[in-house]
Amino acid sequence: MSFDLAAIRAQFPILSQQVNGKPLVYLDNGATTQKPNVVIDAICDYYRHDNANVHRGAHALSDRATAKFEGARESVRRFINAGHREEIIWTKGTTEGINLVAFSWGRDNLRQGDRVLVSTMEHHANIVPWQLLAGQTGCELVPMPVDDRGQIDLAALDDLLDERVKLVSVVHVSNALGTVNPVEAIIEKAHAVGAKVLIDGAQAVAHWPLDVQALDCDFYSFSAHKMYGPTGMGALYGKRELLQAMPPFMGGGEMIETVSFAGTTYNALPYKFEPGTPNIAGAIGMGAAVEFLESFDRKALAEHEADVLNYAVERAHQYEGLRLIGEADHRAGVLSFLLDGGHPADVGMLLDQQGIAVRTGNHCAMPIMQRYGITGTVRASFALYNGRDDVDALFAGLDKVKTFLL
Ligand code: ALA
Repeated sequence: MSFDLAAIRAQFPILSQQVNGKPLVYLDNGATTQKPNVVIDAICDYYRHDNANVHRGAHALSDRATAKFEGARESVRRFINAGHREEIIWTKGTTEGINLVAFSWGRDNLRQGDRVLVSTMEHHANIVPWQLLAGQTGCELVPMPVDDRGQIDLAALDDLLDERVKLVSVVHVSNALGTVNPVEAIIEKAHAVGAKVLIDGAQAVAHWPLDVQALDCDFYSFSAHKMYGPTGMGALYGKRELLQAMPPFMGGGEMIETVSFAGTTYNALPYKFEPGTPNIAGAIGMGAAVEFLESFDRKALAEHEADVLNYAVERAHQYEGLRLIGEADHRAGVLSFLLDGGHPADVGMLLDQQGIAVRTGNHCAMPIMQRYGITGTVRASFALYNGRDDVDALFAGLDKVKTFLL
């Protein structure tokens, strides 16, 4: 391996603890990743030295807070290679970014007879906002089918794409299956019929470099906490001309230019979409997470993560009584499975007793569970600090779980 796993783990203080008397094996990174010292320190330093409101105060602390806050926006812009800083809208996470598009762009652009396509493997965050919008505008939400291996059926997508489709909103990496969707092809096909494309990138951004200009997506929503940053923080990328034409999503301070009872005019991008005092520490923490990721050779990192996942898949294929849910050709970060005779919740609890943290249940993706005729899975999800030793610990843990299930 081209980098030192022990040195990486040493940067994450939480990982060195014991849970239930066993060394923690943290395999719930799809839910949230742990935070390195540089992120924790950036947040603490801000509160210790610079805390003030941004864009408002006529004093040194406010200037420093503003410089850090806007510096973080520039870091996020660079991280996804957006062309303009005002294309980065701070949100509280992927979910808010999708809701912003639904209730600003969607309410303005979608009418009865229009269609929004999503895949069957979407997180509820990329289903329910469109259902709410459909109830308000009369547009229709249409699911794209997924094959038995957990891949979007591109031929079926071709059949569904026509001039009624105004938006395709699709997950980049499935949180439930680990499928990496061919978003480049989907974007090209959608644009060919004049539809816009929103990508839910929550599970993707930590794994490999992203270039929104090369992708040519119209919107890309992601969260800080799944890329080693803080919870309650995220960013929405949108193409500038689209964001400029969109009405505000929420009203309040900061998002206005002038207010009177005769009428209100709105601030320029990105502030038009950022009412109220923002999560300043969150933005600074997200910026630090970007810099943390940029401190690695991202290609080597992606290779390491692929090696660990491939090893886990290999072991899973050889493991008696284990059924993988999701066998896409291209996948990242996630091993979702069922163990014969073991309810996922019981398997999760028995693993936790051994210090192994996984997630169990439907992973906020009930439609894909219904597609497989199941109610949930056990999900091990990986981050850059995980190694083959963690995979070995998981399977040793499952050996023990089996003795309880007999
Ligand atoms: N969406 C997150 C997950 O997959 C919380 O666990």
